[in-house]
Amino acid sequence: MEKTFLMVKPDGVQRALIGEIVSRFEKKGFQLVGAKLMNISEDLAKEHYGEHKERPFFGELVDFITSGPVFAMVWEGKDVILTARNMMGKTNPSEAAPGSIRGDYAVQVSNNIIHGSDSAESAVREIGLFFKEEELVSYDKAVAVWI
Ligand code: PPS
Repeated sequence: MEKTFLMVKPDGVQRALIGEIVSRFEKKGFQLVGAKLMNISEDLAKEHYGEHKERPFFGELVDFITSGPVFAMVWEGKDVILTARNMMGKTNPSEAAPGSIRGDYAVQVSNNIIHGSDSAESAVREIGLFFKEEELVSYDKAVAVWI
């Protein structure tokens, strides 16, 4: 089953949106298989966002993601990588559709509530950066035949 890495960013944590965000993915039918509230070190932030290091906002991005706790998660399910990205909405909240997380709760691109892996390769890399193998669980859900 496909897995993705999702993270409620410091703005989402401070605005008490963890529960709302977890609830959306649970109700959709995905399964939470790893989660932790944590502070991100500068080194981890730079590695996580390494592909953006030449972009003008890189310093601001690292400062923001290290400014307070994040809620890091691993979710599992059919097509979860792409579906989660659609549920998050476009990166710039002004372009994110109403009904999406960013469309409903964010205004600024620099404070856009949630991060999600953008490909299968990114998901493997990001899960490995944030979680040890033994921190991920596997369990049967009560009713899962139709998802
Ligand atoms: S994406 O989703 O990777 O295609 O988005 P991208 O536009 O390439 O942006 C990469 C990450 O940088 C964040 N971002 C910004 N942060 C601060 N200031 C500005 N102007 C800005 N523009 C983009 C964006 O939210 C992406 O972070 P994540 O955590 O992946 O959403």
